[in-house]
Amino acid sequence: MARLIGLVKPLTGFMVLAVVMGLAGHLCASFITILGGYAALGLLGFDTALNLKAIFACALSFAVLRAVLRYGEQSCNHFIAFKLLALIRDKVFHGLRKLCPAKLEGRDKGDLISVITSDIELLEVFYAHTISPTAIALLYTAIMCLFIGSFHPGLGILAFAAYLTVGIIIPLIILGLSGKDGMEFRTESGELSGFVLDSLRGLSETIQYGRGGERLKQMNEKTDALSETEKRMKRNAGRNMAVTNTVILVFDLCMLFLSAALYQKDKVDFTGVLIPTVALFSSFGPVVALANLGSTLQNTFAAGNRVLDILDETPMVQEVTGKEEIIFQGACAENVSFSYGACHDGGGAVLDRVSLEIPKGKIIGLVGKSGSGKSTLLKLFMRFWDVGSGKVEISGRSINEVNTSNLRDMEGFMTQETHLFHDSIRNNLRIAKLDATDAEIESACQKASVHDFIMSLPQGYDTPVGELGDTLSGGERQRIGLARAFLHNAPLLLLDEPTSNLDSLNEAVILKSLRGEQEGKTVVLVSHRQSTMRIADIVYSVESLSQTGRQLLFTP
Ligand SMILES: Nc1ncnc2c1ncn2[C@@H]1O[C@H](COP(=O)(O)OP(=O)(O)O)[C@@H](O)[C@H]1O
Ligand SMILES: [Mg+2]
Repeated sequence: MARLIGLVKPLTGFMVLAVVMGLAGHLCASFITILGGYAALGLLGFDTALNLKAIFACALSFAVLRAVLRYGEQSCNHFIAFKLLALIRDKVFHGLRKLCPAKLEGRDKGDLISVITSDIELLEVFYAHTISPTAIALLYTAIMCLFIGSFHPGLGILAFAAYLTVGIIIPLIILGLSGKDGMEFRTESGELSGFVLDSLRGLSETIQYGRGGERLKQMNEKTDALSETEKRMKRNAGRNMAVTNTVILVFDLCMLFLSAALYQKDKVDFTGVLIPTVALFSSFGPVVALANLGSTLQNTFAAGNRVLDILDETPMVQEVTGKEEIIFQGACAENVSFSYGACHDGGGAVLDRVSLEIPKGKIIGLVGKSGSGKSTLLKLFMRFWDVGSGKVEISGRSINEVNTSNLRDMEGFMTQETHLFHDSIRNNLRIAKLDATDAEIESACQKASVHDFIMSLPQGYDTPVGELGDTLSGGERQRIGLARAFLHNAPLLLLDEPTSNLDSLNEAVILKSLRGEQEGKTVVLVSHRQSTMRIADIVYSVESLSQTGRQLLFTP
């Protein structure tokens, strides 16, 4: 709670304004009823300070003021809330960027989505409907206790006890009783999002293996559990409401009896009976608002925890800035050992004391069994993960000492799976070089042997690709990925199985481009295909790089 409140600091002025307007508004509302009490007294022939006309004029202006103040309070609160939500989203996106990719690989994406969307959204409750109502309730209660106490101190103490019970004691008991429902609800709802996303992605597998029924059953179970928790929360909220209302009535009666008793003992006059009773009756609004928070607050704090957890997570790989910029002069790995175990459960060493030299201007081929760590080795050169031991160097400098943006500029990495964004082909290519001209884009596509295919599409480069590139074949996606790498135009190209989905014709075009590109470029090429390896100057097997040191497999 302290951390969530801490975020309000830059908007303190608006918060104070909201509290002042809210307080004045509530006082207006209560005094309309209290003035009514005075009017009744006047009609009954009692002596009141105000005449009937003045009372009605006051009540009317209080009513109008009440509306204006309420509007002002809510505007301030929502201004604060939505400003802060924008700020928090920004912080979370920054946090996620720092965690990429090591901490996000293998994380439940649906759960992340629900943190970014619904959890942050829920904090609105905290900023718009929690902080200022609490402050308002405290100040308001103090003023009303003084007002009621001005008739007789005993009545003031009773009013204080009433506010304390309704606003704080009952909500605390409720909070204790409802346990972890709020947190449970947030977690379950995150899991359901994850499950639905997973199901949508795996739709074809589910259909092919006839697992629809089972999947549906699981989804129903999750939904049922979620609505069970929600039902419990709603039932609790209803019960709490009933308890609160009953307690309010009991206190109203107590006030009536106490003031009547004081009247009989001549401690107060009739005004002292009617006005305190009416005042208490009409003044529970702010504390009830406080009490109602009890049940929603849990939910809000659960959401807040999940959001803050992301902000608190330390990245596996720290971004490097402020170092001297370097230019690419070759790279090497020395005695590199690495295991995913450090960041994920289990998993032994993937790479064990691997050494590899990547001289500038050469094409290095990497072969090895599936799962032998070829992709991992490339990712270590990208510094997606830090090595366990040993070192990776570029231009004779450890990559931990190279500015991250400098590193990303020097290296063009084509991953084994090309991710396409739900956007046009042109924009998908352009992410590799934001200011690329159309001519540059086309030339990159020609080198990747995909230009003719793109031109054959009805909208050419402006053709949208479906979500996750669904509308393109594996080979087409792969060639677009390669065109991206060409467009990025980095001196070191790391290509992870760039030809695995291609026919030999396309492969030949691409290999020719790679050879032609090669002027001044260095390429690390991972592939299973003998035909692809033909263009490599040196071919290493990943297994043979371990321990025994550099072992040439063959030079074509
Ligand atoms: N993010 C990851 N978390 C845990 N283990 C991983 C991860 N990525 C790959 N692995 C494991 O590391 C090993 C090497 O994977 P990889 O480098 O992709 O092999 P290759 O590219 O040679 O087929 C495999 O056993 C794989 O299961
Ligand atoms: Mg691989």
